[in-house]
Amino acid sequence: MDIHALQQIVHKTRDARRKQTIPKFSPADRDQLIHKHHPDFRASAYRPIRFGPNEGDRTVVELATLLEGDSPIQSHDELTPHHTTDVLVIGGGGAGCAAALHAHGAGSNAILATKLRLGDSNSVMAQGGMQISVAPEDSPVTHFIDTLKGGHMENDHDLLKVMVEEGPAIAKWLIELGVLFDRQADGNLHVKKGGGSSKPRLLTCSDYTGLEIMRVLKDEVINQKIQLLEFAAAIELLSDGEGNCTGAIFKDLDNQRHIVVAAKSVILATGGIGRLHIQGFPTSNHYGATGDGLCLSYRMGAKLAHIDTFQYHPSGAVYPEQLIGALVTEGIRSEGGHLVNAKGERFVNELDTRDVVSSSIIRECEEGRGIRTMSGRVGVWLDTPLLDAEHGPGTVEKHFPAMVMQFDRFGINISKDPVLIYPTLHYQNGGVKIDTNSETNVKNLFVAGEASGGLHGRNRLMGNSLLDLMVFGKRSGLTAAGRTGSIKQGKLTLQHLDRFRAEAKKHGNASGVISPMILPAYTRKVG
Ligand code: FUM
Repeated sequence: MDIHALQQIVHKTRDARRKQTIPKFSPADRDQLIHKHHPDFRASAYRPIRFGPNEGDRTVVELATLLEGDSPIQSHDELTPHHTTDVLVIGGGGAGCAAALHAHGAGSNAILATKLRLGDSNSVMAQGGMQISVAPEDSPVTHFIDTLKGGHMENDHDLLKVMVEEGPAIAKWLIELGVLFDRQADGNLHVKKGGGSSKPRLLTCSDYTGLEIMRVLKDEVINQKIQLLEFAAAIELLSDGEGNCTGAIFKDLDNQRHIVVAAKSVILATGGIGRLHIQGFPTSNHYGATGDGLCLSYRMGAKLAHIDTFQYHPSGAVYPEQLIGALVTEGIRSEGGHLVNAKGERFVNELDTRDVVSSSIIRECEEGRGIRTMSGRVGVWLDTPLLDAEHGPGTVEKHFPAMVMQFDRFGINISKDPVLIYPTLHYQNGGVKIDTNSETNVKNLFVAGEASGGLHGRNRLMGNSLLDLMVFGKRSGLTAAGRTGSIKQGKLTLQHLDRFRAEAKKHGNASGVISPMILPAYTRKVG
């Protein structure tokens, strides 16, 4: 059946659904649903890591293979530095920019290296907002409790406390730099409610919050004349032979030569892993989200946390084919958008936590209540026209201009027609274990933003990522800068790599792949 014919059930059932309230699941029902349908619980997708700091821990096969991968660096004779700096930041998204700006602001020399252009990242694609407790009826304590519940009580309490408490100062910093958050008619900041949150707490810039924040941060990095290395992909870290990180080797993607950077501290802000397409899922992530920071720090001896849990955002586009996996912001559900199955029924509280909502969508599809497209993909409806019906004509266009434009390019008017969605790989809940200054167990190696782990427990709440990367970008930058006067540049060696290779050999050698991946194979074929 053609997509327009299939959509009719959503239009026909809208008025009846508007009168219904959808019961919340009990804690036991939620647990049962997640265990049965969430991709994190598909045992066959997982295997233990054979060696390294997380030996024996289970993660998805795709990540285990990369972590056990070998370095592209074979000879040791390329360790004369092309650049020397106090603080080397690797990654040009939100965490990287925040880290570099704070290190520079504290008086250190900073180099920001990024494998694509400055700003090419998941941060720039963030839509729905940034959670900060600024509303009078809200508080960091409430933010803490909501996040802990969302993370199944497995969040690192110290990291979480720091994040929620430092949120308001981050909002002030961003506003002073020029970020134009949405405001109410009285001029106060407008806040929205996200899934799993008890209070409206999302600061937004329509549905292009990340784009607006990155507009300002990129400008600031350029204005401050921070040295940039663009199209420079980090392929190995450097160590001094005594357990300290001392720099990195990059591949210049323009001419394939290696660039060696010596640094007193290194901050990895390399983002997520969506482009590994784990378990065959499409992704909402940027092309550069290939988990490079995880591989680099793992080889260096850094311990990872919660690497068995991933976030499948409930609403990734299923139609048209050109948008497969693209994010359809949770903001639409925050404003009342219903999820509707092939029978025209709602089946979940749309503002439950993402793991619950995604599990229930997967359940509907697995049990035959999904909608199948002509190309054989399956999903459920997100009733976007409902927002205009509830809040007045023009609501969708006014509140979700980026989403309207994204679908309009393919002749789809989301104010008039519902959108077909299915969970899309969105976020790695875990990553490199850090302390409250964003430092790993490897001295002078910091990790900030999505590449780090522990803060979000087993399920991140909407909008906590943008705050995470600002808070820990700042903390890593300031801590690294604070150290520059008291430490000397260490030796540049690859002793950690020799050790890693020896360990791989004991376990039957590396996995046979070279890591980091840098870009997914399909981008290399283009052009
Ligand atoms: O749905 C969204 O707009 C996503 C937000 C987030 O992951 O924080």
